[in-house]
Amino acid sequence: MRRKETTMLALVRDGRNDPPVTLQEVPEPQPKEGEALVQVRASTVNRGELALLASRADGWRPGQDVAGVVATPAADGNGPPAGTRVIGLAEAAAWSQRVAVPVERLAVIDDAVPFESAATLGLAGLTALRSLREIGPLLGRSVLVLGASGGLGHFVVQLAALAGANVSTLVRTDATGAGSRLADLGVRQLIAGEEPETAAFEVVVDVVGGASLERAIRAVRPGGTIMLLGATDPQPARITLLDFIGHEGARILTFFSYAGDDAAIGPDLDTLAQLVAQGRLHPTISIAVDWKDVGRLLDAMREGKLAGKTVLTVTSP
Ligand SMILES: NC(=O)c1ccc[n+]([C@@H]2O[C@H](COP(=O)([O-])OP(=O)(O)OC[C@H]3O[C@@H](n4cnc5c(N)ncnc54)[C@H](OP(=O)(O)O)[C@@H]3O)[C@@H](O)[C@H]2O)c1
Repeated sequence: MRRKETTMLALVRDGRNDPPVTLQEVPEPQPKEGEALVQVRASTVNRGELALLASRADGWRPGQDVAGVVATPAADGNGPPAGTRVIGLAEAAAWSQRVAVPVERLAVIDDAVPFESAATLGLAGLTALRSLREIGPLLGRSVLVLGASGGLGHFVVQLAALAGANVSTLVRTDATGAGSRLADLGVRQLIAGEEPETAAFEVVVDVVGGASLERAIRAVRPGGTIMLLGATDPQPARITLLDFIGHEGARILTFFSYAGDDAAIGPDLDTLAQLVAQGRLHPTISIAVDWKDVGRLLDAMREGKLAGKTVLTVTSP
């Protein structure tokens, strides 16, 4: 198929299709001042995007995580020059050959870091980094991570360990082999399929929600902190004040990635990219597929048998 120069390929929501997304010709992005045009090499599918694919109107263009090369620098002269390898966090439409990204939402990546790994750092890496900061200092504190084997959980575990926490994790089963991987990533105690010790943890990070949030309350110490990050369990938690007896004064914090400081996205991405380049942070990729095989990746995510981030590599046909 010969394409006009004013169009490119992108994955577009198409509810008539299964999976509900197809490669289509779309107009080339028109970057605003302060936006760089990035040639996308890899992106990821976040669990939130999986849910949105079911509910958004046809024509919606998913994708927030970007790893690629600056094709055209920002017109205002800010940001990295053409040819620089970067990661970024777009508002949407990153499952495309090219995407316009504000330069304050970009960071440069080391030549040694593969695009597939770098792409995982955006939404999941930033959420882990920023939500842990909200909790406060973690040096020497006991932290339990619920849902640790997922794409977000892997980053929470590693960044908490890097911050000096004594990290425990709970996975429902160890069928995916997540346990040994988590041990390599700094987890001191792995709980597989059992109830964690009652009131034993100063901090509980819950990446699942529902019954897992009820478990988080049972596990948190009096005066401790629960950071609620996920809503993967479709059943809401049943909680009353009485559930906090034995856990008095515990507080539940929430974090939403879109509510953070926009201007600090680039520096925070840079922090994550440097940790990866230094070999101190290890993105865990459960599956990486060419974007033409996106249906295979979405099916695997729905089956829920993956441990780590799911990556789309963007190739030219
Ligand atoms: N707050 C934010 O800003 C933000 C940002 C990004 C993502 N999120 C949310 O965070 C959640 C996790 O995202 P993710 O990318 O890590 O997803 P994921 O890769 O699918 O991982 C979720 C993990 O949770 C566990 N899990 C799934 N369903 C469960 C259930 N019903 N009961 C107990 N455990 C269950 C699974 O681990 P095991 O089977 O090993 O136990 C799975 O590995 C999602 O709800 C997502 O929308 C929130």
